[in-house]
Amino acid sequence: MARHRGASDATHKGRYPPSVEPPVHHSASRRSPEGLEGPAGAGPDPVRYIGDPVEKVIASFDSRIIRLYSRGRFTILREVFLEEIGQYLPRTGRVLDLGCGFGFFSLYFAAREPGREMFGIDLNARRIADANTAALRMGLENAHYEVRDAAEWDSEETFDAAYILDLLHHLPEREVAPFLGRLRARLRPGGTLIVKEVEDRPRWKMWFTLLLDRLMVGWREPIHYWPPAEMIALLEGLGFDVKKHSMRDWLPYPHVLYVCRLQEPAGESPGP
Ligand SMILES: C[S@@+](CC[C@H](N)C(=O)[O-])C[C@H]1O[C@@H](n2cnc3c(N)ncnc32)[C@H](O)[C@@H]1O
Repeated sequence: MARHRGASDATHKGRYPPSVEPPVHHSASRRSPEGLEGPAGAGPDPVRYIGDPVEKVIASFDSRIIRLYSRGRFTILREVFLEEIGQYLPRTGRVLDLGCGFGFFSLYFAAREPGREMFGIDLNARRIADANTAALRMGLENAHYEVRDAAEWDSEETFDAAYILDLLHHLPEREVAPFLGRLRARLRPGGTLIVKEVEDRPRWKMWFTLLLDRLMVGWREPIHYWPPAEMIALLEGLGFDVKKHSMRDWLPYPHVLYVCRLQEPAGESPGP
């Protein structure tokens, strides 16, 4: 199967859904003029544009501080990167945003693709309330938020895909495997998990990101940037096919995505 490889990508065993190949690395912006439903001549895979979704998300929060924070998050994870992440999400189906915070990114993904049902969970009740308010204001019927502790989440619900953006490095190391194990149980066979993390190389970018994280969470909270080999081994041990996708940024953030596909049970895999 033809596969595009970025210079710093390490491709690991396994296949990915057809929709994710070839991966986009910093694609040119596909944004349309305000209000247009997809760019002219977009071909068979149009994306629905509803004005500028980033600005709409930001404007949906009352607090100036949260709007400022959201602008910061959308600067760090700006649209080129959201497209890199979004290409791995199914265009329809149930998608979980784990540790969604204020829901900035799931609101964005819900606005971009109305066929996606986005579900966000977070421990923080204030953030979840604000995320639900923002979804209402944006008129999104496909974005839902609940207060849940993902580490103790006992549910029968299943999802076609899930993503975790900048959360794992805030968890104590010993909690990460059980945390991901519970999440795995919520994914349907063949489902996709996207983990956005901070890579531990190059060192200067790692130290810069660590400083920002420390300013956000203080000096006592755990922060651990997993070396990619360890994270990949952990995810593969849980039964995922894993591909590392480095998101190259001129800003000093060593973003890395782990694109994981849950293996189908033997005999249910489609074709060769
Ligand atoms: C660094 S913030 C990232 C928020 C969001 N994903 C983003 O990228 O903007 C981490 C979030 O994870 C949430 N969180 C931490 N542990 C959690 C858990 N066990 N279950 C659910 N949410 C959790 C925190 O409340 C916080 O909102």
